[in-house]
Amino acid sequence: MPNVTVLPQTNQLIGLYSIIRDQNTKRGDFVFYSDRIIRLLVEEGLNQLPVEKSVISCHGGHEYVGAKFLGKICGVSIVRAGESMEMGLRDCCRSVRIGKILIQRDEETALPKLFYEKLPEDISERYVFLLDPMLATGGSAMMAVEVLLKRGVKSNRIFFLNLLAAPEGIKAFQEKYPDVNIITGGIDEKLDEDKYIVPGLGDFGDRYYGI
Ligand code: PRP
Ligand code: URA
Repeated sequence: MPNVTVLPQTNQLIGLYSIIRDQNTKRGDFVFYSDRIIRLLVEEGLNQLPVEKSVISCHGGHEYVGAKFLGKICGVSIVRAGESMEMGLRDCCRSVRIGKILIQRDEETALPKLFYEKLPEDISERYVFLLDPMLATGGSAMMAVEVLLKRGVKSNRIFFLNLLAAPEGIKAFQEKYPDVNIITGGIDEKLDEDKYIVPGLGDFGDRYYGI
C-alpha cells in the first residue's frame, strides 16, 4: 500500500501488543507499554522526514558527511486519546510545537464531530505528525486532515501516527487522502458492529486515562 508503513512485526513489538491487547492488563502497564509503542512510531516518523547533506567538522579537523533535517515539524493531537502520544513526540523533539484538534466519535452513530482546533500559526510551513492511537472507520482522522489542509498544510507533509488500524479505515483514508502518510503499529482484522477494531484493544482513551 503506497504511503502506508506498518512497523516491522518483531518479537518485541508483538510482545508489547500482547500486553496492551490483554483485557486483564492494568492501567499502569497499559500506559507504560503503549508509551513504548508510541516511541517506536515517533522514531519511524522521524526516519521518514527528508534530510539534506551536512558536512561536519570533527576533532582534529576531520570531516564527516552527515545529514540534518530539512524543515520544521509540529505535532497535532486529536483530543482526547491522541494526547497520550504527545510525550513520546516531546521525548524525541525537544520543545516541539503541539496543536490540538478536538474530535469525538458520536457513541451512537460512530460519526466524528469537530469541536475545537488550536494550531500553530505557521503550520502550513511545517511537517505535521498527526497523533491518534486508533484508526477505526477513519472518520476522525479524515476530519482532522481536512482541518489541516484548510490551514494550508501540504498533504504529503502529514504523517498520521497510530497504534492500530482497521482495514476499512485504511481504505477509506487512502481513497480520500492518498498522499497523506500513515504510520501504524499494526493492521487488525476488521471492525465490529459498534465500529470497534477486532481483535483490537478496546477503547484506547478509556484504558489510557482510566475513565
Ligand atoms: C477514538 C480514537 C479515534 C477515533 C477512531 O476516539 O481515539 O479518535 O475513536 O475512530 P474512527 O476512526 O472510527 O473515527 P473517541 O472519539 O472515542 O474519543 P477519545 O479520544 O476521547 O477516546
Ligand atoms: N476507538 C477506540 O478507542 N478503539 C476502537 O477500537 C475504535 C475506536
